Amino acid sequence: MENQKKVMVSGIQPSGDLHLGNYLGPLHHWPEMIAEFDCYFFMADLHTITVRQDPAALRKRTLTQLAQYIACGLDPEKCVLFVQSHVPAHTQLGWVLDCYTMFGELSRMTQFKDKSARNADNINAGLFTYPSLMAADILLYQPDFVPVGEDQKQHVEICRDIAERFNGVYGDVFKVPQPYIAKVGARIMGLSAPESKMSKSVPEGCVFLMEKPEDIMRKFKRAVTDSDTENPVRYDPKAKPGVSNLIQIYAAATGKPFAEIEAEFAGKGYGAFKPVVGEAVVECLRPIREETERLLADKAYLETVWRAGAERAEYVAMKTLRKVYKKVGFLAR
Ligand code: TRP
Repeated sequence: MENQKKVMVSGIQPSGDLHLGNYLGPLHHWPEMIAEFDCYFFMADLHTITVRQDPAALRKRTLTQLAQYIACGLDPEKCVLFVQSHVPAHTQLGWVLDCYTMFGELSRMTQFKDKSARNADNINAGLFTYPSLMAADILLYQPDFVPVGEDQKQHVEICRDIAERFNGVYGDVFKVPQPYIAKVGARIMGLSAPESKMSKSVPEGCVFLMEKPEDIMRKFKRAVTDSDTENPVRYDPKAKPGVSNLIQIYAAATGKPFAEIEAEFAGKGYGAFKPVVGEAVVECLRPIREETERLLADKAYLETVWRAGAERAEYVAMKTLRKVYKKVGFLAR
């Protein structure tokens, strides 16, 4: 039955420490997905160097992220867990797809426009062709779905366009995948500025997975809410973005429905609510932090994981790459 499961591919860049937004957004749902789908998850280190990185820090974050994925429930026996740069087929197919991706369509990508505005001194070609490498990441594994956040939907769209363009010339080489947007807890906002997504670049509003309980508690106690005093714990993301975000976090961390949370805090103020959310998050993250630390102390084990992952990924990726090379007319070695 194994090969009748639908296939899913996703990557996270090891560009920063994983935080609660990553966890309650995509990551939280990955363990359920590995039961239902054949999953490929990778650390997108090739994408990360489109922005300058400190080499030692990048290496450390890649390793930590691998340990965190496992600690979050991604059993390496039940899914394929690997490091993108360990599977050369990504860059190989990336190049081919560069030649089937138009300058105009890359220029219109919002992420390129944003990132080049933010890194005006380093608008490199990799930043520009990022979407065709991402298309390669995906298409190599012939997936049915790509679980991504809202901000990555445009990248899945262009991947579909590239796949259809290529298939239009050479026949059905690639499966054309669908974006898969997780339903619950998908968008966690910053604690200090609830108008924007939780982000490592605003550390005071961001809770990291490896953070100490007392630091987590402090951030929650300082979370921005509003000046409502009459029954203030109500879910209303437009009028009350701060509290609604806290309700969303509490719901995701405990599995309680919104209505139950509102009832639990009926008539109570933020002074009562915020520390309870903080504690729920501390308890939700504790086993992950402890397991990550345990795994990081066992580098030999992690090494077996990334090696086996690369081998399994490569086996599948190479099948697609060989097909593509043949279609475009490369002489077989
Ligand atoms: N671009 C994604 C991000 O920044 C990371 C990524 C790279 C990815 N390759 C991918 C996600 C392939 C899904 C599928 O979040």
